[in-house]
Amino acid sequence: MWNALKAKAVEVADRRIEGILDTNRAADFAVQAGDMRLDYAKTNIDAATRDMLIGMLETTGVAAKRDAMFAGAAINETEGRAVLHTALRNLDGGPVMVDGADVMPEVLGTLQRMGAFAEDVRSGKFKGQGGKITDVVNIGIGGSDLGPAMAALALAPYHDGPRCHFVSNVDPADIAQVLRSCDPATTLVIVASKTFTTIETMTNARTAQAWMGEKVSDVGAQFAALSTSAEKTAAMGIAPERVFGFEDWVGGRYSMWGPIGLSLMIAIGEAGFLAFLRGAQAMDVHFQAAEWHENMPALLALVGIWHNQGCGHPTRAVLPYDNNLSRLPAYLQQLEMESNGKGVSMDGADLPVHSGPVVWGEPGTNGQHAFYQLIHQGTRVVPCEFLVAARGHEDALHHQHQLLVANCLAQSEALMKGRDLDEARSKVADKFEGAELERQAKHRVFKGNRPSVTIAYPQLTPFVLGQIVALYEHRVFVEGVVLGLNSYDQWGVELGKELATALQPVVEGAKSAADKDGSTAALVAFLQKHGV
Ligand code: F6P
Repeated sequence: MWNALKAKAVEVADRRIEGILDTNRAADFAVQAGDMRLDYAKTNIDAATRDMLIGMLETTGVAAKRDAMFAGAAINETEGRAVLHTALRNLDGGPVMVDGADVMPEVLGTLQRMGAFAEDVRSGKFKGQGGKITDVVNIGIGGSDLGPAMAALALAPYHDGPRCHFVSNVDPADIAQVLRSCDPATTLVIVASKTFTTIETMTNARTAQAWMGEKVSDVGAQFAALSTSAEKTAAMGIAPERVFGFEDWVGGRYSMWGPIGLSLMIAIGEAGFLAFLRGAQAMDVHFQAAEWHENMPALLALVGIWHNQGCGHPTRAVLPYDNNLSRLPAYLQQLEMESNGKGVSMDGADLPVHSGPVVWGEPGTNGQHAFYQLIHQGTRVVPCEFLVAARGHEDALHHQHQLLVANCLAQSEALMKGRDLDEARSKVADKFEGAELERQAKHRVFKGNRPSVTIAYPQLTPFVLGQIVALYEHRVFVEGVVLGLNSYDQWGVELGKELATALQPVVEGAKSAADKDGSTAALVAFLQKHGV
């Protein structure tokens, strides 16, 4: 399967995308899910390649695995867990069974409790010692931070609740800066941690408790917790009525649809949050129902597999022409790289091809004035994924939005078409001649034939954001199944955690660095000399 894919990539490597792009292709190599459009016509995938890629979905049993996931089977085999973030947005779907029991009553009950609490905070019915809550501080890291932080920013135009802050880093600079801007008497602290053991989060939570304790008599009353461990949240002194629980079948990086989304719900309100869930649910329904050649997450995954495992492009850039999506690349870095950055197949054998790609990006148009140089003229091809809305939220500045859209479309066009030597020469023929003209012209050549996809939507509403995030979640799922790995564990983060715990007393000077390697010992000595 992989050899055939690579052979196909070699076969078409020199073919110009532009050469195959007629109006039929524009229609045939685009897909709609609700109001959202994915255009993959500006890739070198032709009908035969698409058939081959779709064949890979069949060979690797993606449909059966997808149905097993939605049905609550333990597809996270290395942890023996179901993978059911879809149940968190199954607002009007049927029962979802795990170990013989329907999980939906519990899911919907928790969602209702979250809604009631969020509305109480927003209305002022829930108060701090100093009155109505003005600030919410979400303390969490990884999946307990990136999702709500990304979404709160993405949905800033809908944010009408208290200010929301997100503290993740154990670097004291992070929490100190946030707490400086808040009044403890009117702040709600949300401790978000699936396991309630993560050292960064527990350390920051204790710092926040101490900060609040200087001014507030009942600190626990202004803390809420989001976790799978009721025991550990109780040990932190957080009363059960402000603990919002979930089960271990929700992966950390897939958890923003439930309790981990509480800060977002407080920011945009219960109705906005439900619209966000409904957008994701609509994508779930599409993913389950659409034929492969019309299935947006499957096609996005196949484009990814074509570019990475087929053509050998090691990274992909996510480029939102939507400033409010500025944290989407960071969010997707966890979603995609923690899920599919693995070298071992589900059965323990080495992966026969490279794992998922490096994902990176920044909003356009900022990136254009920074790293797009490499994207256009660097020696490696970087497949690009553009996201763009038809409308922004600043009606009075719509002309700026039109300029933004024009830039987005221009970039995918430029990547595809490039500029040949003749055209480059003609651009500078009035300034140079002879050998100097040749030299100057060569610097202005764009090889082009660089692939991109564009995801377009009417406006970044809560519903659309839900669609986008679920689209990427299912894309990760499909890529993971085709690669034959487990997208739902994350053993690769463990070693560093263990070594950090062992190094803490060394850094503090309570233990010698003698058993460390020479480089580490020398760095400890240097940092200690300078006051660590
Ligand atoms: O260390 C990685 C990780 O386990 C992520 O998978 C997770 O999202 C993050 O840490 C935070 O974990 P928790 O929500 O349990 O604090």
